[in-house]
Amino acid sequence: MDATCRMSALVATSPPKILTNEDLVRLTDTTDEWIVSRTGIRRRHVLEDGKLPSDLTLDCSLRTLEASGVAASDLTHIVVATCTPEMLTPSSACILAGKMGAGNVAAFDIGAACTGFLYALYVCSGLLQREPEARMLLVCVEAISRRVNWTDRSTCVLFGDGAASCILEGASSPGGSGAVLEDVLCRSDGGQRHLITIGGGTGRGYGPGDAVGEDFFLHMQGRETYRHAVRQMVNVCEDILARNGLTVADVDVFVPHQANLRIIEAVGARLGIGGERVFVNVDRYGNTSAASIPLALHEAAEEGRIPSGSRVLVTAFGAGLTWGAALLKYA
Ligand SMILES: CC(C)(COP(=O)(O)OP(=O)(O)OC[C@H]1O[C@@H](n2cnc3c(N)ncnc32)[C@H](O)[C@@H]1OP(=O)(O)O)[C@@H](O)C(=O)NCCC(=O)NCCS
Repeated sequence: MDATCRMSALVATSPPKILTNEDLVRLTDTTDEWIVSRTGIRRRHVLEDGKLPSDLTLDCSLRTLEASGVAASDLTHIVVATCTPEMLTPSSACILAGKMGAGNVAAFDIGAACTGFLYALYVCSGLLQREPEARMLLVCVEAISRRVNWTDRSTCVLFGDGAASCILEGASSPGGSGAVLEDVLCRSDGGQRHLITIGGGTGRGYGPGDAVGEDFFLHMQGRETYRHAVRQMVNVCEDILARNGLTVADVDVFVPHQANLRIIEAVGARLGIGGERVFVNVDRYGNTSAASIPLALHEAAEEGRIPSGSRVLVTAFGAGLTWGAALLKYA
């Protein structure tokens, strides 16, 4: 695929409140040892009471604008990837556009759960082929803590909140910083949609004062999900490398979706990418769904793990089921 999209000014915002595994031991029937040995997670950030997901998106968006020197009025599109939107409508993108004073931008959300960042790259790079002069703000955000059942120990230990944002523009636009999107592949299997769900939509009717149903909260069949996650992330990584005439030897850094250390290690082992080439921060953030990969890319770059000229392979998997992979070449 011809490179048409450049990502720059990637920043991340995590809410200051931290929940450690020891905090969770006080909320549910679990132990630090179980969580660390099964998932690799030690702590996660969660949105404080009274705060909104749009507080997170506004904070990181303003920092992206500052880092890029782009004014809100210069933006042509605002795209938000999330599976925990602040409201059913208006969209999280319109809420953010209003708070930023962005004017008459095209604003819309992308719902692809943990694969949201990759679906957003897929959609935005397509739009950039049609409108090469566009200047897009992409924000990935989740407030999964608001839909976690804190008495369900099989899910509540896994997730965290956070946001990350970047500018997407034509690959030939001046500046040349950041990373060029070499290719992106997105896939799904709606036949497995029951494996991870968060309700609260219009699938059930409510009257004023009704209590929410069980379906309102996040539900996941962990074992089945694990099996699909490893298989599909390996397949899609092999496919994107093959269709670009590359092998794992051409990958400098591997940034997989940060859901679970065991999944990351299993995918890396099957692909033949291990050690220093694999970036991991799930221990400090848990699974932040759509925000997971951009948050990890931001942190890897901050830590100097992505030297100039690096080719980065990213892959994600999530509810839907959805999954995908992308190749990024850093300037
Ligand atoms: C969720 C996950 C960590 C569970 O690990 P697992 O090894 O499959 O564990 P199981 O669900 O089979 O449960 C094993 C036991 O641990 C218990 N358990 C589950 N959560 C626990 C917790 N937080 N603390 C202590 N025990 C727990 C179970 O009740 C079960 O007990 P039992 O054997 O007495 O019935 C794992 O399945 C997983 O990572 N799945 C993928 C999840 C994911 O990343 N999803 C997001 C994709 S985007």
